[in-house]
Amino acid sequence: MNLTSEEKEMLSGKQGKAVKKSMEILVALGEIYGAKRMVEAKSVQIAGVSYHNLGDAGLEFLEEMGQDGKVKVLTTLNPAGMDLEEWQKLGIDSGFAEKQMKVIDAFSRMGVTITCTCTPYLIGNLPRFGEHIAWSESSAVCFANSVIGAITNREGGPSSIASALTGKTPEYGMHLEKNRQAQVRVLVKAKIDSVPKFGAMGRVIGEKIGNKIPLIEGIQSASLEELKSLSAAIATYGGTAMFHMKGITPAKTAVPKKSISIGEKDIAEALGKFDCAEEIDFVGIGCPHASINEMQKIAELLKGKKVKKEVWVCTARQTKQLADKMGYSKAIEDAGAKIACDTCMAVAPIKGRFKGMITDSAKACYYAAGHNGIKTRIRTVEECVEEAMK
Ligand code: F3S
Repeated sequence: MNLTSEEKEMLSGKQGKAVKKSMEILVALGEIYGAKRMVEAKSVQIAGVSYHNLGDAGLEFLEEMGQDGKVKVLTTLNPAGMDLEEWQKLGIDSGFAEKQMKVIDAFSRMGVTITCTCTPYLIGNLPRFGEHIAWSESSAVCFANSVIGAITNREGGPSSIASALTGKTPEYGMHLEKNRQAQVRVLVKAKIDSVPKFGAMGRVIGEKIGNKIPLIEGIQSASLEELKSLSAAIATYGGTAMFHMKGITPAKTAVPKKSISIGEKDIAEALGKFDCAEEIDFVGIGCPHASINEMQKIAELLKGKKVKKEVWVCTARQTKQLADKMGYSKAIEDAGAKIACDTCMAVAPIKGRFKGMITDSAKACYYAAGHNGIKTRIRTVEECVEEAMK
């Protein structure tokens, strides 16, 4: 790779051990993937924050990097394994909480902004169209590339930390315009008009074309919440880092020759595949983390009512603070539901606690089944709230 004198200096160790190690990681990645140079990463999102996923080896790596490493660009964090302030209310044990706080302390020492959300674009880490960034969190990566038009590979935890400490990322993959073109045209001939249906469409497309970039046609309108759900589902079930949607997303693409169609039957089948829970004892909303719009809607649905099941509404702490001011948090909590900040139903250590989860999120279904052995049912948020009161 052609490195600038500044990058060579980082690699030599003159800027400290953490920067040296970071540059080694980035150069190794660049050489594996044929990058010719580094580009400036304007912001970073780090995934791999839950102690549940990191373990002691991950914590050790972070503590080592935190000894002399300081972030050079705006850097935010994915959800942790617990609500950092009210972990007891979610039934987290104190041993886990202690380790999780050590992880957070290590990130704090590096100067990372302790956001703990998978929707950084809703709370201040909002890149511009065409800006190079280094994000790790598949749903946020897909949202950033597709809906915002920023440019990022699907980074891993260590490579995103390396970018944070150097402000650089190797120029390969999604950073090159030729790799951002649609590869398959997807003609949607079904009515896609709810968050679960956008998630189901993401699953169908992901399962049909894998990690190829689709040009989705036939969608008349899509809300922010529907697009974040689609980004999460399509990345989870297929592995793509980007989609184009005719008339909705901002990047230009040539129309690919290869095309497939998706009809009502495909969507119904996908919705059916999520539905395997006979008994529901957990309601999980907010995957990806709920927007303020969703908080308002949930508050309206719950106002003056009482839930009979464990209900988690997962959101960013900053969104909750706004919801507090608007009275939404009070309506939700007075009904007996819990607002889970900083974490989510996939990264919190909840294995064995619940049998069946109802959710409006296709991605949450994937992780509930895979990580936590919980059976699932997918419904609209209105239906989830109704189920919570049974
Ligand atoms: Fe976010 Fe957790 Fe879903 S990290 S995308 S709420 S699985």
